[in-house]
This record gives sequence, C-alpha cells and structure tokens, in this order.
Amino acid sequence: MDARQLKIAAAQAALAHVEDGMRLGIGTGSTADEFVRLLAEKVAGGFNVQGVPTSERTARLCVELGVPLFSLDDLPELDLTIDGADEVDGALGLIKGGGGALLREKIVASASARMIVIADESKLVDTLGRFPLPIEVAPFGLTATRLAVERLAAGLGLSGEIVQRPDKDGPYLTDGGHFILDASFGRIPDAEALANGLVAIPGVVEHGLFLNMANAVIIASQSGARTLLAKD
Ligand code: A5P
Repeated sequence: MDARQLKIAAAQAALAHVEDGMRLGIGTGSTADEFVRLLAEKVAGGFNVQGVPTSERTARLCVELGVPLFSLDDLPELDLTIDGADEVDGALGLIKGGGGALLREKIVASASARMIVIADESKLVDTLGRFPLPIEVAPFGLTATRLAVERLAAGLGLSGEIVQRPDKDGPYLTDGGHFILDASFGRIPDAEALANGLVAIPGVVEHGLFLNMANAVIIASQSGARTLLAKD
C-alpha cells in the first residue's frame, strides 16, 4: 500500500464507527479528506449524517461531494469527531495543526462525545515533538507573544526554532484570521506543562497539543488497520 492507500485504510476503518443519523465532526487534512470521500459515497447511497466541518477546506470538499453540513452553533453537541493528526504518542496524545485548522479542530472535538483519530503508522512517536508544534496566535503583539512562548519553552528546558508560518504571498492566516508559529522543539517530555503554559499566554489563541482528547486512534500499516484505545 502506498501512503494514500494507508490513509484510505484508516478512514475506511473509522467509517465503521459512524452510525446512521449521527452528528459528526469532520476533520481536516489529507487523511480526513479520504474519510470525507468514503462518507460521501455512503451518503449518496442514502446514509444520513449531520456533519460539522473543522475548516473551510473541509467544508468545501463536503459541499462538493454532497455531505450535509451544519454549523457548530446549529449542532453544539456532537456524537463523534473523526480527524487526522500530525503525531500520536502511546498515551494517544496528539500534535495537530499541520494543516492550520487546530483551533476549529479542538473546538469541534471538545464538543463531541467521542474523538477517533485516523493516521498511518508514520505518525506514531514515543514522545511528541518531532513534528513542529503549531501555535495559533493573535496578530496583535506577535513579537511579544513569541517572546513569551520562547521564555516558557526555555523554562521547560525546550529549545528549537520558532518560525512564523508563511503562505504564498505573506504570513499564513488561519480560518479565524490568526497567525501560526511552528515550534521545532524536537522532543517534549512534559507536554501537559507546555500546554498549560501556552494557554496562559494571552496572545496564544490555541496550540496543537491535543492531550486526553482522543478516545481511539486507528493506525493503518502494511499489515492492516489497528485501533489504539485510550486508557480510562
Ligand atoms: C489540520 O490542521 C491537522 O490537524 C491535520 O489533522 C493534520 O495535519 C493531519 O493531516 P494529514 O492527514 O494530511 O497528515
């Protein structure tokens, strides 16, 4: 199986958890896109689902393929969210936001009774941090916020470059109109301390550490899809 087929395998396994009539959070990224394509085939066959997208990108794909969409204000309590991840550790901690949708992804996942993550085995790590941590920040006071993040990181023994994510013609802007700082810490031994410190910085809108949020992670590999379950 090539990389795309692995994503499809994970998405296919996740689809088995989606029941008729569910209120469903729909993630963002290339793996989540495969899930949307499979879901759309079921919807075309008469399957009923009420989707809430985690990004404008996912919303466009859903509309194109005929997956019924609602806003989170229409459906503030969801049954399940299916989303991808940039990194997964053994405790089902995640780094998300490589696609820039971390804020809406976290809001939607938090509004869901369950979150199932779909990924290929390349995303599995012992300790989070190999993937640069996306930190969504307000444009106002960017330099002060970056300094505060650097000081927090240094206090936790973390080092590494923190760069503002670029786009084609300027800074990358999230769906919410914010910037993203990508922090290459390399290895984050105490992700909880970092997460708590980041949310305490006023200019930080959200960060890509999703801790204790995923109920299950479906990992696709050459030998098939296996499910890692969160411990109670
Ligand atoms: C989007 O902001 C991210 O959180 C994605 O879920 C993540 O980047 C995974 O994307 P891929 O499935 O494309 O690797």
